[in-house]
Amino acid sequence: MMNISKLTPWFLFLCLTLLSDYKVRGSISPSSQKPREGGIFGFKPKTLFVFGDSFADTGNTPTMIAASWKFPNGITFPGRPTGRFTDGRVSTDYLAKYIGLRKPCAYKWGRFGRPRQAVKRGMNFAFGGAGVFDTIFKVVPNASVQIDSLEQLIRRKVYSSADLNSSVAFFSIVGNDYLTYNGRNGSEKGRPAFIRRVVKQILLDVKRIKDLGVRKVLVALSPPQKCLPKLATPKGGCDTNDTSTYLHNSLLREGLIKLNDKMIKSNDNSFLVFDLYNAFVTIFKNKGVPGVSRFPEPLKSCCPTERGKSCGDVGIHGEKLFTLCKDPKSFFFWDNVHITDQAWRSIFSLLLPDSQF
Ligand SMILES: *[C@@H]1O[C@H](CO)[C@@H](O)[C@H](O)[C@H]1NC(C)=O
Ligand SMILES: *[C@@H]1O[C@H](CO)[C@@H](O)[C@H](O)[C@H]1NC(C)=O
Ligand SMILES: *[C@@H]1O[C@H](CO)[C@@H](O)[C@H](O)[C@H]1NC(C)=O
Ligand SMILES: *[C@@H]1O[C@H](CO)[C@@H](O)[C@H](O)[C@H]1NC(C)=O
Repeated sequence: MMNISKLTPWFLFLCLTLLSDYKVRGSISPSSQKPREGGIFGFKPKTLFVFGDSFADTGNTPTMIAASWKFPNGITFPGRPTGRFTDGRVSTDYLAKYIGLRKPCAYKWGRFGRPRQAVKRGMNFAFGGAGVFDTIFKVVPNASVQIDSLEQLIRRKVYSSADLNSSVAFFSIVGNDYLTYNGRNGSEKGRPAFIRRVVKQILLDVKRIKDLGVRKVLVALSPPQKCLPKLATPKGGCDTNDTSTYLHNSLLREGLIKLNDKMIKSNDNSFLVFDLYNAFVTIFKNKGVPGVSRFPEPLKSCCPTERGKSCGDVGIHGEKLFTLCKDPKSFFFWDNVHITDQAWRSIFSLLLPDSQF
């Protein structure tokens, strides 16, 4: 077989558009425009910034507080823990690959005099446990503080306006605000108002990223919250369309469409939707993605733990507080909250079908 992975996705995308029956399967853009040359962004980004939580973190969360630095995290790729909350790669890695960039530096490493070239390809500010507001994970910087970090780098002239104009951002804050609301016994009655506050803050955050000069911002919708193994019913079933997730996603989508409309003069579709909800539900329904993955029991996790424990935790005598499945590739969920490398691969192949992984 031809070594197709050497070709850039951009080239492949051109080939595919020439076939003309090419369609986007996932919903990518709020205005559901046809994808243009250059993938979803419509140009070839040179720099990627990431803001988010554990779904996007590539090693910012300190070893002291995160099980992500312990076995069996990283067991599939690269074979040792890297601070990612999964057995392999996360969204950030797959997105960088889709764009054709090497993965952006984790912010904490960026602080220690990284080579200029590495910093230029971008920075990942995402921390496990982060929300738009402060969460039960106390020391973690919220999204506003993550954006402050980029602003400081711009002030220190690490990134020029030309760098920013050829950059894109991925904004992926997908649930810790709600975990925190539940953890603090927030009322059901107050929930819709809280969801509105969260979405309003996300919209402020992504607008601010754009106003700093970043060309386009890809914004993750919420996955079906009640389907996380942590919250699924004991029988393993779940409500994919719970009213809270529905409200969050529909408000966010509307908000992004409005932001795009306001920027109509640049005619650039600055805000794009990454529809994690659609991807999760489609994969649950089909038990995988044909030709990419197969998840016989998509709601089960590969590395289950008791409530309050994380995959990788050990007891005082070194005993494992988790169990590990035989074949992580056949699981969608990694632990009670996070998803596997193979799950991310599946999501990207669904939402960005011009990806080649
Ligand atoms: C984010 O965290 C900072 C520092 O803890 C705090 O001052 C700020 O109010 C927080 N932002 C939001 C939107 O909660
Ligand atoms: C950013 O780049 C685009 C495309 O090259 C160009 O049309 C636009 O004027 C640039 N904007 C700024 C602020 O430099
Ligand atoms: C929440 O409710 C549970 C059970 O009713 C209680 O044990 C816990 O202390 C409460 N937590 C907070 C933060 O109020
Ligand atoms: C999900 O639920 C909302 C409100 O409860 C409803 O308006 C919507 O049509 C539902 N969507 C699907 C796909 O069932």
